[in-house]
Amino acid sequence: MQIVSTIADARKIRASLNGTLGFVPTMGFLHEGHLSLVRRAREECDAVAVSIFVNPTQFSPNEDLNRYPRALERDLSLLKEAGVSFVFTPDAGEIYPPGFATSIDVGDVAKPLEGAVRPGHFSGVATVVTKLFNIIQPTKAFFGQKDAQQCAVIRRLVTDLNIPVDVVICDIVRNEKGLALSSRNSYLTDSEQERALLLHESLGKAQERIASGERNAETIKTLIAAILSKDPDFSVDYISVADPYSLTELDSVDDEALISLAVKVGNTRLLDNILVRKK
Ligand code: PAF
Repeated sequence: MQIVSTIADARKIRASLNGTLGFVPTMGFLHEGHLSLVRRAREECDAVAVSIFVNPTQFSPNEDLNRYPRALERDLSLLKEAGVSFVFTPDAGEIYPPGFATSIDVGDVAKPLEGAVRPGHFSGVATVVTKLFNIIQPTKAFFGQKDAQQCAVIRRLVTDLNIPVDVVICDIVRNEKGLALSSRNSYLTDSEQERALLLHESLGKAQERIASGERNAETIKTLIAAILSKDPDFSVDYISVADPYSLTELDSVDDEALISLAVKVGNTRLLDNILVRKK
């Protein structure tokens, strides 16, 4: 496995590879969710590239950029074991050299939910992902459904800017109890980890209600809110029932819907979601 930190070296390796290239962009501190993306990329492509870059432009000034968990050596050994061909680990100066000024605004899909709570976040994500796509030039790129709005933003970006990359969205990976894996779970205490299971439980109940005929989005949100209110220390940022592609809120679950939520458990903000279909 080759490890490079400059754009010039990444381009050289890319140029030397034949066949299809799968790409998994990450911010490191890898867990089973990232590794499942790598495995899928290996299944579908001849070679796999991974980037590890904690992208400063997707963090607001009051967010956790400085304390975001990092474990580069451990990440590299996991990626080597997983059969990755090359890893791109640039520093911020390589990606954003002096004079850097461009940013990408993907429009309405980036505005609600995470976009409303974290202004500028998706512009940072869209800009860095575009740069990484231009540097790595993958055939396919793999993203996790846990960041459902990020997936919608990237699909929009790739379509609108005619970027020749197939975007593959992979299922959420959960721990044995149902908690969606996230690098930020490392901030949770043991007790918070247990209590955070309520997020998945509330989504499961919503899914059951839809399966038994409920269509009204407000009723579904109220049901989830009632379950989450069992923990007085939760602070709910949003509960959403929306179209999975446009993120427009739905009145009624008539076809496909993305039910997503963001909840602060102690000091840690967690996201979870499920995709539901009428039948
Ligand atoms: O999902 C992430 O880890 C990041 O948002 C990404 C896609 C690597 C861009 O920095």
